[in-house]
Amino acid sequence: MKECSIFFIWVLVLLLQSSSCSGDANVVNPCCFYPCQNSGVCVRYDTHSYKCDCTRTGFYGVNCTIPEFWTRIYLMLKPSPSVVHYILTHFQWLWDLVNNTFLRNTLMRLVLTGRSDLIPSPPTYNTKYGYLSWESYYNLSYYTRLLPPVPKDCPLPMGTTGKPVLPDVKELTERFFKRQKFRPDPQGINLMFAFMAQHFTHQFFKTNHKVQGGFTHGLGHGVDASNIYGEDLVRQHQLRLHKDGKLKYQLKNGEMYPPTVSDVPVDMVYPEGFPAEQRLAIGQKVFGILPGLTMYATIWLREHNRVCDILKAEHPTWDDEQLFQTTRLIIIGEIIKIIIEEYVQQLSGYLLKLKFDPSLLFDVRFQYSNRIALEFCQLYHWHPLMPDSFLIDGDEIPFSQFLYNTSILMHYGVEKLVDAFSRQPAGQIGGGRNSHEMVLKVAELVIRESRAVRVQPFNEYRKRFNLKPYTSFHDFTDDKEMARGLEELYGHIDALEFYPGVLLEKTRAGGTFGESMVEMGAPFSLKGLLGNPICSPVYWKPSTFGGETGFNIVKTATLKKLVCLNTKWCPYVAFHIPRNEEEAKPRKPSTEL
Ligand code: HEM
Ligand SMILES: *[C@@H]1O[C@H](CO)[C@@H](O)[C@H](O)[C@H]1NC(C)=O
Ligand SMILES: *[C@@H]1O[C@H](CO)[C@@H](O)[C@H](O)[C@H]1NC(C)=O
Ligand SMILES: *[C@@H]1O[C@H](CO)[C@@H](O)[C@H](O)[C@H]1NC(C)=O
Ligand SMILES: *[C@@H]1O[C@H](CO)[C@@H](O)[C@H](O)[C@H]1NC(C)=O
Repeated sequence: MKECSIFFIWVLVLLLQSSSCSGDANVVNPCCFYPCQNSGVCVRYDTHSYKCDCTRTGFYGVNCTIPEFWTRIYLMLKPSPSVVHYILTHFQWLWDLVNNTFLRNTLMRLVLTGRSDLIPSPPTYNTKYGYLSWESYYNLSYYTRLLPPVPKDCPLPMGTTGKPVLPDVKELTERFFKRQKFRPDPQGINLMFAFMAQHFTHQFFKTNHKVQGGFTHGLGHGVDASNIYGEDLVRQHQLRLHKDGKLKYQLKNGEMYPPTVSDVPVDMVYPEGFPAEQRLAIGQKVFGILPGLTMYATIWLREHNRVCDILKAEHPTWDDEQLFQTTRLIIIGEIIKIIIEEYVQQLSGYLLKLKFDPSLLFDVRFQYSNRIALEFCQLYHWHPLMPDSFLIDGDEIPFSQFLYNTSILMHYGVEKLVDAFSRQPAGQIGGGRNSHEMVLKVAELVIRESRAVRVQPFNEYRKRFNLKPYTSFHDFTDDKEMARGLEELYGHIDALEFYPGVLLEKTRAGGTFGESMVEMGAPFSLKGLLGNPICSPVYWKPSTFGGETGFNIVKTATLKKLVCLNTKWCPYVAFHIPRNEEEAKPRKPSTEL
């Protein structure tokens, strides 16, 4: 009896072994080791072997690790990202010189090409296709992916390193993301910046959460102003006045605001039972959530209608359609101009005065197309920006009363909101432990999504962006407790996930976030901004914008003009908190433009 049962168990064990691993029990997909370096492509042959395709990487060898002659020279001369960053953020006297000479153009061109060369164009992979395919090129419903997903048949969730089970998401966010005490951004970033970040990025980050697999509703894949005009033609036509190119609006106290859903029945996300008279109708359906977003929606609405008047005065023969379409191109141009010269300028902390001038790229190889990457969407979850409460015109409004509060916008008006948001510091994005309870759930969602779509480890992305992979958690963060905690949860630095990587990494001295966020975010960002069709030699000329007047509106757009040409009085308006007494002075409704 005893022997019989032992025999039985043996048979069972053998059966289990052979059924759990079809074929050779010990064969691991060799691409799970991420063997190909320097952007070489891993191709699997039979069961055990692989080849790295090193074509045009500048490297050769089994794993694309041996530099070709010119690559060797280039690598010897090339300063590291941290050295470049140091130079760009120090030596005021040097930049005072550069800013006012041809060197500004030369360096700006270098910034643009150096960054965007890291983004493949045309795009490559997506969540379903870890190899090039016509489907992933053609189907715009997918976000693209810079690195293919972790192969499905790897022995461990992150490939071949780390623990068999990834850390509990709740534990991760509670221990390392949750705010203990509000930490203001050291570069002076304010809420005006934070809401711009959210408003601007939600025109192209529109994840389709109904289906898994890295899908987006944002078919424009870039700066298309769909957050103002709607994603599809039906919504756009609902939002349009069909007169003089304008958008529909309502007047409150003699001022222009977005219309309500009772007048313009578009789908907007609001809590259940929220009355239609209070739902504002906006291009982006989620913008009802925050007064900061409805404020920007109001500003852009007014700007659109203002530009329509200017165009109509010059082109009295143009019909509604041409006035609308031309104004939209001008608005897109204004967005890109303000984002590069003020928003990115503020974010980068660079002393080089950034310049939006598409002609800088006319003599170099550059593709005028863009595809939004899933990794870009992941890394842009900058929820630590949000403060603990909102300070407006002497009132302190707690988070709970701020969300979906549509009365705030019209109660205070655009001027007072801009003034308040421009003066209130935003939270530091990087370094961890700075996410308000209310948005902690979002970090959880991001990490869960990244697991579902099998995003490669943080260190693989470090390498993809020419950064040295971290060798330990103590190398990754100076916070000893966090290093120990992450080590215990992940087991190995090579198994650290992408999103915790970019958010928890040690921040640069006096910086908003760590090296990786900048080195990975900037390429996606600049490629997206300059890859816009209006930046191409075909479009970048006066006639595209209705003539010199429209072209000049684009070329001279500033945040201050955007606000103050559309308000009764000019508040303090910037992407940073006041830096000197002049800026800090209170503004009054009486202040003339
Ligand atoms: C009180 C303020 C905020 C709340 C309550 C909030 C809430 C949310 C929620 C619930 C999601 C959906 C979860 C997901 O897509 O994974 C989300 C997505 C996102 N949020 Fe926020 N958020 C806030 C502020 C911000 C700010 C200031 C930014 C600045 C960049 C931002 C950037 C994003 C991005 C990029 C996404 C992904 C959008 C997508 O994939 O469709 N959020 N947020
Ligand atoms: C190539 O990479 C694999 C996997 O990382 C490693 O085992 C192998 O030794 C490497 N081969 C060479 C020649 O560097
Ligand atoms: C150069 O530009 C930077 C960034 O705008 C600024 O901080 C610096 O003061 C400028 N210098 C001059 C002379 O304009
Ligand atoms: C894109 O792919 C998804 C999933 O396979 C499919 O449902 C959708 O119809 C595709 N879209 C186009 C335009 O082919
Ligand atoms: C909206 O904000 C106002 C002004 O701060 C406040 O009095 C009101 O209670 C808020 N409404 C809701 C529903 O939270």
